[in-house]
Amino acid sequence: VIPYGQHYLDDEDIAAVVNVLRQGVLTQGPKIAEFEEAVAAYVGARYAVALSSGTAALHLACVAANLGPADRLATSPLTFVASANCARYVGASPVLADIAQDTLNLSPEALREAAKAMPGIRAVVAVHFAGLPCDMTGIRDVAEQAGMVVIEDAAHALGATYPSGRRVGSCENSSMTVFSFHPVKSIAAGEGGMITTNDQSIYRRLLRLRSHGINKDEDQLLNIAAANEQGEPNLWYYEMQELGWNYRITDIQSALALSQLGKLERFLERRRQLAVRYDRLLKDLPGLQPAQRDGRASSAHHIYPVLIDFSALGTTRTRFMMELRRRGIGTQVHYVPLHMHPYYQQLGIKFLSLSNAESYYRQALSLPLYYSLTDAQQDEIVVAIKDLLS
Ligand SMILES: Cc1ncc(COP(=O)(O)O)c(C=O)c1O
Repeated sequence: VIPYGQHYLDDEDIAAVVNVLRQGVLTQGPKIAEFEEAVAAYVGARYAVALSSGTAALHLACVAANLGPADRLATSPLTFVASANCARYVGASPVLADIAQDTLNLSPEALREAAKAMPGIRAVVAVHFAGLPCDMTGIRDVAEQAGMVVIEDAAHALGATYPSGRRVGSCENSSMTVFSFHPVKSIAAGEGGMITTNDQSIYRRLLRLRSHGINKDEDQLLNIAAANEQGEPNLWYYEMQELGWNYRITDIQSALALSQLGKLERFLERRRQLAVRYDRLLKDLPGLQPAQRDGRASSAHHIYPVLIDFSALGTTRTRFMMELRRRGIGTQVHYVPLHMHPYYQQLGIKFLSLSNAESYYRQALSLPLYYSLTDAQQDEIVVAIKDLLS
């Protein structure tokens, strides 16, 4: 079966992991800082903090943004649940603002409407859907006026570029950017995440929060009397300064991700080629439209979403997917909109019209897209789709 997404590993990746295992430092060792420095340099950010997952990264971003139960966090309905769950972890309430139809990303106008309608939106999580960067200057303008902290959810978008030419993660219009290294993403760590930022105090706080809230080397100690004896610092002394978590990534995961990072440009280029090829092969097909046609030069192409009018074809999405599966082709739907999940239905987070997200969801299907997909496999997929459409 051709899956909808898949990671790619080579002997170099395997050797990188084996090396860490042989060297003996499994966690809290040098590979983590090496990975952080490499990502910070790649995206053009001053600081990077590696974490155990993208979800942990979103959680700590909300803590570092000082969100609490009195606050609201705006995000797109068209995203994975983690983009809103992070608000709940700190007691805050998600608010959904609709997507723009052409980009499938959070619309700055919808965000402005949300800010007018709902008081207390203190943060926005801008999700770069499928790897296509959001209109970050538009979002920043609304956020600045309304006093929101801007967090970018770039789980899909490592390697994507803004119109300025800078990379997603450089935080040119945000406070923090969050990445995920789950195997289906741009590069694989197994599980893993990262926050990039240009703010030194946020960076220092994130280092503490990822490790129980215990002070790091450069931190000012709070309990001076306990930290020193006869005027000398107690070497064994450490103190927990606020509530943190164990959200550390391991050296094993970092070594794998670092090795993968060396192949990122190749990965991105192949994904772009395949997306452009889909655009061409699926052009002018009655009943099917590529969902994000613009932005081939700037997207990281995490997935390839298309819109199919299943009811006009006299079928259902399930039957369509089953028929593809019978021919050995895996597809997926990204995503069930957040306000349709029972948990969020009970919480009541739909306040404004989300009609663009809802109409997208009715017709959405993600076709296979990953580095090692061959032209021949892609041709096979296109033939099967054409056959089902006719
Ligand atoms: C948009 C988005 N945000 C956040 C996450 C969470 O990342 P992770 O799986 O690394 O926790 C994911 C992926 O799973 C995602 O797709």
